[in-house]
Amino acid sequence: MNSVAKLLSGRVIWVTGKGGTGKTSFAAALAVVGAAKGRKTLLCEVDTSRPAMAAIFDKPADFEPVTMAPNLDVSNVHWDGALAAYVQTYIPVKRLVKGVLNNRVVRRFLDFAPGAREMFILSRIVALLDDYDLVVVDMHASGHAYSMLDITRSAARLFRSGPMLKRAQQLQEVITDAQTHTAFVALPEEMVVNETLETVERMREAKLFGGEPVVFLNRATLPSLNDEERTLLARLNAEELTVQAREFVRAGVWEDRLEQATQESMQRLGEAFGHTPVLVPPVGGGGIPRHVVAQLAVALGRQVGVSRRELPWT
Ligand SMILES: Nc1ncnc2c1ncn2[C@@H]1O[C@H](COP(=O)(O)OP(=O)(O)OP(=O)(O)O)[C@@H](O)[C@H]1O
Ligand SMILES: [Mg+2]
Repeated sequence: MNSVAKLLSGRVIWVTGKGGTGKTSFAAALAVVGAAKGRKTLLCEVDTSRPAMAAIFDKPADFEPVTMAPNLDVSNVHWDGALAAYVQTYIPVKRLVKGVLNNRVVRRFLDFAPGAREMFILSRIVALLDDYDLVVVDMHASGHAYSMLDITRSAARLFRSGPMLKRAQQLQEVITDAQTHTAFVALPEEMVVNETLETVERMREAKLFGGEPVVFLNRATLPSLNDEERTLLARLNAEELTVQAREFVRAGVWEDRLEQATQESMQRLGEAFGHTPVLVPPVGGGGIPRHVVAQLAVALGRQVGVSRRELPWT
């Protein structure tokens, strides 16, 4: 089974990576392909001040899942909703829940209680698992995603008994389940690869992986130059050239650098992950999030035998 098939056959995918690498786009594309494969899929965005789903799907996501395509719902798991959902498990009367949450002292305590935010948001995601085959989570950037998943470990140490301990243990069970995967999105850039490797190591040490993690190398430049062409380019680059010829050689040298950056990143990531990264080249789409996601879904779909025609909206 290839990496994409492995991810899509599981139950949970946490999508993370350095800021701006393509986490949201990949989370959405994975969810689209999962839905096309016939799995009842939920895509979650998490506690964000910049909701991104409206630019990808026709409508914005809400706390209660919104259906965007056949088999595909999207939820914005925000703090206010997660908190209300949590309090409601203890106080089933809605009016009273409102009263508790509007109480300034209680609210202040909950807003600042260490770890409460992470715990309640994760709890909500895990509760939604009951209604779906596959839940894809557009997590925060790596460091923050690490702390969010690690909070359950700290909570399990902090609370010796009671409902919080029980909840932390339930979350830990899901996090460490073999059907729960982490997908990292990286770029062929040294800093991005460094951060990815650091996070993988920390998460591995903290036992925050269930199934083996997978890495996508986004905006990868696939090899096109052979060794002879590369030598020729280097020779031309050292020579006196006319202005036009110099422009041309520069473009070639730039292409060669991108290819080498991809090669180096592939090798470093491959060693750390124990598998070759899934390479995804830059796609068209003119920077329009919806089109970029559609094209990524086509690229990922190809890896699991889902054709463009079978995707809900491309
Ligand atoms: N392979 C690709 N080809 C072309 N454009 C891409 C590709 N991957 C992502 N993009 C574009 O790059 C931008 C950043 O992607 P995205 O928003 O998914 O990243 P992110 O990691 O979620 O960012 P943030 O850390 O801000 O949440 C978006 O405009 C997206 O459409
Ligand atoms: Mg994002």
